[in-house]
Amino acid sequence: MKTWFEAFKESMNVIFTDEDFKRYLGNVKKDLRFYRKHLGKKARILDLGCGLGVTAVPLSTLGYEVVGIDNDRDVMGAATVNARNFGGSIEIKYGDIFDINEIFEKDSFDACISGGLLEHFSEPEIKMLVDKQLILAPLVISSVPLASYPDEVWDDGMQRNLWEADYWINNILDGFNIVKHKESKASETIGGFLELTVIIER
Ligand SMILES: C[S@@+](CC[C@H](N)C(=O)[O-])C[C@H]1O[C@@H](n2cnc3c(N)ncnc32)[C@H](O)[C@@H]1O
Repeated sequence: MKTWFEAFKESMNVIFTDEDFKRYLGNVKKDLRFYRKHLGKKARILDLGCGLGVTAVPLSTLGYEVVGIDNDRDVMGAATVNARNFGGSIEIKYGDIFDINEIFEKDSFDACISGGLLEHFSEPEIKMLVDKQLILAPLVISSVPLASYPDEVWDDGMQRNLWEADYWINNILDGFNIVKHKESKASETIGGFLELTVIIER
């Protein structure tokens, strides 16, 4: 089976160029407009499944204290280089997202974020992952791709569940305190797919 590092290598520069970083910074600034109100300045943020750092690295230059966690060692290695080259206050850590409550203490963060992560797991696992994040932080912000985009956009061979926004909100995340959500088109630089972003509070 393909690793995440191999999948990334096929579609992007695993070590960011100046140009890449500028694009990712622009995307993050745009996303921040949606959730800045919920995040204090200098918030401590855990980015689960941080990948190469397309979100974690730019966020760390905007006054936030960021920890990125990923369980692909090659991905982590590249993210560490990207953090060194472009990051602010950031640590890239090896670890499994199912173990976050053993790795970090309760209330270690102001927010747990993830992008393109939850859809790779089963419904009970997603509920469990949100519960685990809400132990570490009072706020969870997650973005997931939605079913409505033609599936052929995903030619990376990775397994993912593409559900409708309504199904995420009313079934998978039912019972969680969703304070805000939006459907939007992801930036073309990461595929231009339709995605759902949810803000969940304890
Ligand atoms: C689709 S990528 C998203 C990366 C990044 N968030 C982004 O938006 O570019 C999913 C990432 O989650 C990581 N991942 C998958 N399962 C994981 C697990 N159980 N623990 C930690 N990281 C995991 C993968 O290694 C990969 O880097």
